[in-house]
Amino acid sequence: MKIISNVEELRREIKALKAEKQGYIGLVPTMGALHKGHLSLIETCRAENEIVIVSVFVNPTQFGPNEDYDKYPRTIEADSKLCEKAGVDFLFAPSPKDIYSEYYFKNKETTLICPPYEVVNKLCGKSRPGHFDGVCTIVAKLFNITKCDRAYFGKKDAQQLFIIKNMVRDLNFDIDIIGCPIIREEDNLAMSSRNTYLNDEARSAALNISKALFKVKELREKGINESATLIDTALTIMQNLEVEYTEIVSLETFENIDIIDEKALMLIAAKVNVNGSKVRLIDNIEL
Ligand code: PAF
Repeated sequence: MKIISNVEELRREIKALKAEKQGYIGLVPTMGALHKGHLSLIETCRAENEIVIVSVFVNPTQFGPNEDYDKYPRTIEADSKLCEKAGVDFLFAPSPKDIYSEYYFKNKETTLICPPYEVVNKLCGKSRPGHFDGVCTIVAKLFNITKCDRAYFGKKDAQQLFIIKNMVRDLNFDIDIIGCPIIREEDNLAMSSRNTYLNDEARSAALNISKALFKVKELREKGINESATLIDTALTIMQNLEVEYTEIVSLETFENIDIIDEKALMLIAAKVNVNGSKVRLIDNIEL
């Protein structure tokens, strides 16, 4: 495995390996602090492509001014060991200066990809203005840098996956976007790099998120199809948390639905207290 931080060097190396191996290039974009969720994306990517690239980049343009950009876990040594073991060909680990131009650092502005207002001004996008502009911009840059054929994203970030699929459609990227299942801890907590912020108490409080989702799924399977009833049930279970949203949307359009008569998703974002500061977690389940 080669660890590369420079864009031009990565381009050269990919070109050389492609000439040798031919076949498909798969990309797994990440912000590092890799866990089993990421590993499952990498394994799927390894199984389906001749060349596997994992990017590790904590992308400044997708963090708001009061968010955790500075304290986001950076564990590149551990990440590189995991990638090496998983058979990754290239670990792309650039610094912000490798990715953004001098203009950006001087003016705090860059060309951005802005997804439609209706899809970003809800769920995570509502409390994180500009977040999905940053996500789409870095993902499009990674697509252009790697010229990948397929890219792999976790379904835990369901709104992100929906927005990226729309971007690929709207901007004619010739890339397959593959959504991979949520990987959970044994106690059902969805795997997330932010779980490293949790102490025991916060972690056990956070379990009510997945408890709520699984209870709602059980009720849905028993035939309950009114979103309001299902949302009330979830909120009752999550009384110990600061819930940012609990919503049910169509899986196809991401529009909110009152009566579930098609494939749907319940999505939750909630904050848990950790020694006076708050950790924001997201999770979802197909209904
Ligand atoms: O999901 C993430 O980790 C990030 O949003 C992504 C897709 C790597 C872009 O920075």
